[in-house]
Amino acid sequence: MPDLITEAKAARENAVAPFSKFKVGAALRTKAGTIYRGCNVENCTYGLTVCAERVALLSALAAGDREFDAIAVVTQSDEPSTPCGPCRQLMWEYCGNIDVTLSNLAGQKIEYKLADLFPHPFSFCIE
Ligand code: THU
Repeated sequence: MPDLITEAKAARENAVAPFSKFKVGAALRTKAGTIYRGCNVENCTYGLTVCAERVALLSALAAGDREFDAIAVVTQSDEPSTPCGPCRQLMWEYCGNIDVTLSNLAGQKIEYKLADLFPHPFSFCIE
């Protein structure tokens, strides 16, 4: 099975980040092993920017996948960077308590369960 961090690093190469210059790559894995890549895509209004995690997740959902077990996120930061609040909410809703691996280009790696990053979620609509 391809290494998720390697996949996220490759996804990051496609980031469209002319404003922040902060490129992010994500790779989301289904329980069956399919990997969906995502990168951040910025926009000149700034506010329409979409994070790498959400691009990966929405691609997976659009392809019909619904069962996930892990996501890796790669950034260029000194310390591995954690996902933003909206991405945590969406990952929680659609992926549940998946493994989240955060890495930087220096190869530092931090592993979490999503519940550790997103305690007390808003989840009234989740069975
Ligand atoms: N970004 C992500 O892609 N994922 C996150 O979890 C946090 C932030 C992107 C959005 C923007 O393009 C850039 O990083 C700087 O905020």
